[in-house]
Amino acid sequence: MASIKIENVQKAFGKVIAVDHLNLEIKDGEFFTFLGPSGCGKTTTLRMIAGFYYPTKGIVRFGDKDMTRVPPEKRNTGMVFQNYALFPHMTVFENVAFGLKVRKISSGELKKRVQDVLQKVRLNQYSDRQVSQLSGGQQQRVALARALVIEPEILLLDEPLSNLDAKLRDEMRSEILRLQREYKITTIYVTHDQAEALSMSDRIAVFNFGVCHQIGTPSEIYNEPSNDFVAGFIGEINLFPARIEKKTNEQVFLSVQTGAGPKEMTVKNHPFNVDPDSPGDLAISIRPEAIILHYRQVDGANVLKGKIEEVYFFGSVINLIISVEGMRLKADLLNNQSIKIKKGTEVFVQLPEDHIRVIPMVSGESS
Ligand SMILES: Nc1ncnc2c1ncn2[C@@H]1O[C@H](COP(=O)(O)OP(=O)(O)O)[C@@H](O)[C@H]1O
Ligand SMILES: [Mg+2]
Repeated sequence: MASIKIENVQKAFGKVIAVDHLNLEIKDGEFFTFLGPSGCGKTTTLRMIAGFYYPTKGIVRFGDKDMTRVPPEKRNTGMVFQNYALFPHMTVFENVAFGLKVRKISSGELKKRVQDVLQKVRLNQYSDRQVSQLSGGQQQRVALARALVIEPEILLLDEPLSNLDAKLRDEMRSEILRLQREYKITTIYVTHDQAEALSMSDRIAVFNFGVCHQIGTPSEIYNEPSNDFVAGFIGEINLFPARIEKKTNEQVFLSVQTGAGPKEMTVKNHPFNVDPDSPGDLAISIRPEAIILHYRQVDGANVLKGKIEEVYFFGSVINLIISVEGMRLKADLLNNQSIKIKKGTEVFVQLPEDHIRVIPMVSGESS
């Protein structure tokens, strides 16, 4: 097993900086996910860990050992590529055995190890089948077996589920987690799918345009996003430009820019990490499920009058779009209320003081 350290790494392809100023520490046995939109540098980073690319600047370590320029075959990492990269005309057995043959493992030991790993991924019945005759999910398992059979210290998975349909994705998701726990192997999982990242990972690094914006547990990333990019990429969010007017120990007083002019709002219990003297562009952010709806006027902070504009019924939840002060606010309700939600209904929307976060705007956009 191994921990991984990435110290101030940059990777340039000519003028394109694919990854910049990257600092990461992945713990021994951790399930760590790189999450971000297409082109943000996830594969490039994974390949620098596998040794298929060397960084332009910076250091990659396994434990304390400098691996920056060690070739891939000397790293003891197993990688599953996005397109699987299997040999289609070879059998399942031959595909899985390939890495062991390269490593000159004796034929007796090779046979045992391939059979063991095929059992683990539940493909022992398919050993002699040609890979081109397997389903997508089975090919995925062959790719996993091929990575695991060399008994790597580190498992690298590049969007391993993106070619599978939704049902198979769910199945493989638990399969990968089961194997990861069984082997207790340090794993880096690459995805652009936030639901996969949130549900599988011990920790997540969120990337955009080659820069890592935040590292944290799924709940830290979701509940305490560090800026508007992270907040908007993971889950649904309401974001409105805001300015700090005053700050006391308990409360922050804000002027929020709405379609109908500035509006005063207050925030409580906020782990405030914005420098009040040079705050830059700020936004308030609040998740749709944190918004409280009232059907008559109530006292309290941050209560605004609105009208339900759109209703999307999903069975267990109802997604609403509410017009408030010239803004479009997203609100989610659990379907456990007897009140009939109807388009056109006037409502009072409350943004609870301890559910609003004030965050820096780095994307130059707001919803
Ligand atoms: N071999 C390469 N040569 C030139 N540019 C590359 C190469 N690999 C990746 N890039 C560029 O680097 C950026 C990051 O790519 P990549 O790491 O593949 O992103 P992701 O895996 O997050 O989709 C992109 O702008 C991509 O076009
Ligand atoms: Mg990629």
